[in-house]
Amino acid sequence: MSKTDIVTVTNLSKRYGSITAVDRISFSICSGEIFGFLGPNGAGKTTTINMMTGLARPTAGSIIIDGIDAVRNIKKAQSIMGIVPDESNLYDEMDGFDNLCFCGALYGMPRAARESRARELLEQFDLLKAGNRPFKAYSKGMRRKLTIAAALIHEPKILFLDEPTTGIDVESARQIRNLLLNLRLRGTTIFLTTHYIEEAERICDRVAFIVEGRIVAEGSVSKLLGSTGHGHAIRLTADAALEPFVCELQARVPGCTVRAEPGHAATVVSKERIPLYPILQYLDEQGVSVFEAKELTPTLEDVFVKITGIEAAESRKEARKVGIGR
Ligand SMILES: Nc1ncnc2c1ncn2[C@@H]1O[C@H](COP(=O)(O)OP(=O)(O)OP(=O)(O)O)[C@@H](O)[C@H]1O
Ligand SMILES: [Mg+2]
Repeated sequence: MSKTDIVTVTNLSKRYGSITAVDRISFSICSGEIFGFLGPNGAGKTTTINMMTGLARPTAGSIIIDGIDAVRNIKKAQSIMGIVPDESNLYDEMDGFDNLCFCGALYGMPRAARESRARELLEQFDLLKAGNRPFKAYSKGMRRKLTIAAALIHEPKILFLDEPTTGIDVESARQIRNLLLNLRLRGTTIFLTTHYIEEAERICDRVAFIVEGRIVAEGSVSKLLGSTGHGHAIRLTADAALEPFVCELQARVPGCTVRAEPGHAATVVSKERIPLYPILQYLDEQGVSVFEAKELTPTLEDVFVKITGIEAAESRKEARKVGIGR
């Protein structure tokens, strides 16, 4: 992947009257990467993507996309962008094929080119059969897929998607994630917003956490995962409650903290690697058998909760609906 920046956002702000929706954010996106903007409801994700794609005017700050000043010269910047808004911008009465061709015409594509590209996209998105049905007859997942197909009609260099998998069925969400990964393989840069932490962890190269209009952390997923300072953690499951053995276990493995949990389980946490033998030997002496000792690795959700203090239970519950929950 090239390390050249294709997008540079500097001190970008948006105020609506007394509300500061986006507050002096700065970040850059490398060419060919998937960059995720992650944050809770009302954090400023849509406002940011709208400013980058010309759907909202910044109050202050600059946006440079592929060398183009996207605040002053949005039309030129839009010619290399694909835009997938959170609500579809396609026409209900037109069928799928005509919607795609219409978008191609807006980008100045000649008739033959837009028709062959429209057919190619319908096939790629598994929508060939639905191609001659009116858009209003599409399911939510089909609507989202056609909206993404329309954004890709002119083979944009950079694709912007606002919550691409929110509120759709598991299979369509999975197809969309695979499609984004394939687009990246072919060199398309992708900026997406999501409030599904696991989705960001799974497909993004880099993410920024946005809370109340401000970026509170930014970096590669692996860098953020390494930033928790969690050290090491192991979860033990045994054939008896481990509560009575907590103090002795802590004494036998210096520097570790042991917490008994329901279901004959316990978590051992330490800054250092945790030696298993003294733990298993001691429990064995006490007549307790350990069935499982599993290393716990931090997730992006742990990092998010640690940095923002926001519990991500709501995001997790919704993520399960689109097939990415743990
Ligand atoms: N047109 C508007 N007029 C006034 N306030 C607005 C407008 N658009 C957004 N806001 C406010 O700006 C803040 C950020 O909203 P935004 O839609 O960008 O959040 P979001 O991160 O996309 O949230 P969600 O996850 O719900 O989509 C919110 O407080 C919102 O109420
Ligand atoms: Mg939004």
